[in-house]
Amino acid sequence: MRILGISAHYHDSAAALLVDGSPVCAIQEERLSRRKNDASFPLAAIEWCLDHAGLDPSELDAVVFYEKPMLKFERILTMALRGFPRTWHSFPRAMKNSLGGKLWVKGIISSQLGVRSDRILFTEHHQSHAAAAFLTAPTQRAAILTADGVGEWATLSLGRGSVGGDGAVSLELSRELHFPHSLGMLYSTFTAYLGFPVNEGEYKVMGLASYGKPSFEPQVRKMVRRTPDGALALDLSYFEFHEGARRSFSDRFITELGQPRDPFDPIDLATPEGLRYADIAASVQRVLEDILVDLARSLQRETGLDDLCLGGGVALNGCANARILRESGFRNVYVPSAPGDAGCALGAALAADRLHFGQPHLEVPDHPFWGPSIDAQELSRLAREDGLELQELARESVVTDQVARELARGRIVGWMQGATEFGPRALGNRSILAAPHSVEMRDRLNRSIKYREEFRPFAPAVPIEQAERFFDLPPGGARLGRFMSGVFPVKPEWRDRLAAVTHVDGTARVQTVDRKMAPRFHSLLEAYGALTGIPVLLNTSFNLAGDPIVNRAIEGYSTFRRSGIDLLVAGETIVAKPRAAQVAPEAVA
Ligand SMILES: [Fe+2]
Repeated sequence: MRILGISAHYHDSAAALLVDGSPVCAIQEERLSRRKNDASFPLAAIEWCLDHAGLDPSELDAVVFYEKPMLKFERILTMALRGFPRTWHSFPRAMKNSLGGKLWVKGIISSQLGVRSDRILFTEHHQSHAAAAFLTAPTQRAAILTADGVGEWATLSLGRGSVGGDGAVSLELSRELHFPHSLGMLYSTFTAYLGFPVNEGEYKVMGLASYGKPSFEPQVRKMVRRTPDGALALDLSYFEFHEGARRSFSDRFITELGQPRDPFDPIDLATPEGLRYADIAASVQRVLEDILVDLARSLQRETGLDDLCLGGGVALNGCANARILRESGFRNVYVPSAPGDAGCALGAALAADRLHFGQPHLEVPDHPFWGPSIDAQELSRLAREDGLELQELARESVVTDQVARELARGRIVGWMQGATEFGPRALGNRSILAAPHSVEMRDRLNRSIKYREEFRPFAPAVPIEQAERFFDLPPGGARLGRFMSGVFPVKPEWRDRLAAVTHVDGTARVQTVDRKMAPRFHSLLEAYGALTGIPVLLNTSFNLAGDPIVNRAIEGYSTFRRSGIDLLVAGETIVAKPRAAQVAPEAVA
């Protein structure tokens, strides 16, 4: 059975293809269209998936869209009527922003792909999140918690999934929180208030939170209260997003917390104003974490299960995930590599296969590498045309040894291997790598490549079997680090020597690298460890600010030419900038 999953028209469009129960490929539209967070109908992603599998659209048994457009329409219309007459001006905008082309999605799929309309299916948004989380995790029975801004009506759901002995899947979301009450919208409102772009800047709020104290916690708690049934409710007098307004927070919100930050004013943490922003970020982060931990703890007590699968955009919050693991009573917390809406393309396809068609479950390979593979020959050709120094090495071990030496000398390396990651994080196949030891390296990366705010930390990658030497991981922490989904303390004795990847509060968003998942990246970390005694590298996504992560060799090459990256590697091909060639290899210690 061939099933294509699609997510589109809100944020991060993507396509994923399932053949006979197993994923074959998955990719976000932005990686192909080169428009960051591209939300348009993912024609390029679909075309690539079909091409990759050698399929014609007519050979698809089903195309599954990741949410139900009519339910979303109902929600927007209901909210508009509830707020009438205040909302009637904003209704058309709300329709356009939230719905995009979705109402006509069946017609779009049918006409663009030539797929018969009776083969087009729809899953519910949170069911897609839940399926993406549970059906990709290495577990047979787990509790499920999904949380995001909003899907159709649901903004948070709680439930459980199980796989029977015969492979029959049950996925039950027994409780839902409905819009406008939403943890994702709460966090996004603070993201907007702090002057960051909503749906992209949430991780900046988390980074900024580490610089502050949660001194505004009482004010935030007034905005979101717990209800007697264990759920939560926003006090809507503080918010305006539900009325489709241009601004998501109200005047009362400003009275409570002060003036919002102008996005064009840099945050200066040496000033009281800068610290106020950090304190506000710390306060909303604290409240979000407390609520999530509490919800997870109740879910653990109720289900008695050991495993928790987390989905939805809120599951990108690595600080909250780590606290859930430490405090909720679950032994394992699984977060997929793409917990946000892009991952719903895969979730929708899996849900259709296991639940709609009732196919037996097959364990999904536990890795994020579902996109196009790198073509090293393309890099060789580009470098030759430009007359750059080029090496085409014969063996993998020679590549890792040589790159490790260059990293140990302080070189910054663009590293492209195998297939592109599915999800927002580079996990060693499209990464910029550097020595993690000094603050100077962090500043150099920020200055010459990433051009970003100083309060956003870089992440370390470490072989999974050595992670506990450097990081204070709770039981289950190494698994949470597989796709960089948890933030954990760096052991105090290592903080000085891991200064480029240690955040101001002593933590790091660790990637624990399993040799089985990423053998070449693992070998590189070991080779670097053999040279320096510390098998840890700084790993940041291979892109410039505002660009999507590179996909093909040409994008990596173009980024390399436009930035301070010293060395570019694709497969066994290594390209150096001219100035790098001037350093004699003998200079290596
Ligand atoms: Fe979502």
